[in-house]
Amino acid sequence: MRVLITGAGGFLGRRLTRELMSREGIVGPSGKVEPITHLTLADLGPVPLPEAPGVEIEVIQGDLADASTLERLCARPYDSLFHLASQLTFHAEQDPDHAWAVNVDPLRALIAAAQGCPRVIFASSIAVFGGDFPAEVADDLAPLPETTYGTHKAVNELILADASRHGRIDGRALRLPIILIRPGVTQPVVSDKVAAIVREPLEGRDFAAPLPPEAVVPVASAGAVVRGFLNLHDLPPDRLPPKRTLNLPALSVTVAHMVAAAARAGATGRVTSAPDPATQAVVAGWPQHFISHHAGPLGIAPDRDFDAIIADYLAHREV
Ligand SMILES: NC(=O)c1ccc[n+]([C@@H]2O[C@H](COP(=O)([O-])OP(=O)(O)OC[C@H]3O[C@@H](n4cnc5c(N)ncnc54)[C@H](O)[C@@H]3O)[C@@H](O)[C@H]2O)c1
Repeated sequence: MRVLITGAGGFLGRRLTRELMSREGIVGPSGKVEPITHLTLADLGPVPLPEAPGVEIEVIQGDLADASTLERLCARPYDSLFHLASQLTFHAEQDPDHAWAVNVDPLRALIAAAQGCPRVIFASSIAVFGGDFPAEVADDLAPLPETTYGTHKAVNELILADASRHGRIDGRALRLPIILIRPGVTQPVVSDKVAAIVREPLEGRDFAAPLPPEAVVPVASAGAVVRGFLNLHDLPPDRLPPKRTLNLPALSVTVAHMVAAAARAGATGRVTSAPDPATQAVVAGWPQHFISHHAGPLGIAPDRDFDAIIADYLAHREV
């Protein structure tokens, strides 16, 4: 099995790589679990090399918006592609044209280079939704993105479904809610400010939460994402959801609940409340209840509770 991961150096890409290397294999062209023999890890930044005896690993470090990097990547035949590389909201709003070159063009090029209908798992986002959504946002609600990032995710979902209809790839997209808890230092992006509400006290640092205690956020752990990606990857084509796209069901938790769970897990940093209107406005634009009617029967589940999300972080934070 030849597997390609883009965005392999990121928060979820690293976790996915480690999980893949810990498994016996994934479903291959034969329809059965096959061992991974070749792994190509692509990212703009550095990619840590996983422990993977017997697997031939190649790292392609470079900008996917750069023709020569993309050409190198497209020259690698693959049976399965996990496409995670993306410019996120902040940068996509600054330079939408460059963001298109990172977020959309590489998927098209990788599809054009595909041989033998490989499986393609795409990391989509809750950001495809916008406008006046219902209390519960399920898989089949029509995307109405309100950001450049969300627009690119929605475009890619359509490209993936259309290329699958043509039999060029077997594409599957998983829309992710806010994934906690990203390790490291607090970044100036809203999703990381949410993560910091738990990460900072767990790491023994005080934090002024930019959201009020009653604010509700739809969240999932990195572990739930990786299980969701691999579960979706291994499904036989006749069990795929409509439009080949699925919401990863989220837990809906309040800030107060998150802080209490961190305290239960032994957090020593203190969280104070300092609501910031700009952060509150962004969070108010996210669906509070992000659900899936298709995920459960396919074995794709939300985290058990917020304590499980913290446990997932504590078990993997040094990565
Ligand atoms: N983490 C979340 O809360 C969340 C929520 C919804 C969707 N997603 C999606 O999941 C995927 C992975 O997210 P993540 O949290 O690991 O993000 P991340 O920023 O940690 O990882 C993304 C990786 O893509 C790489 N990348 C960015 N631009 C690139 C370029 N021009 N060329 C090559 N590589 C480039 C980055 O270097 C980074 O390592 C992304 O597609 C993201 O949109 C994440």
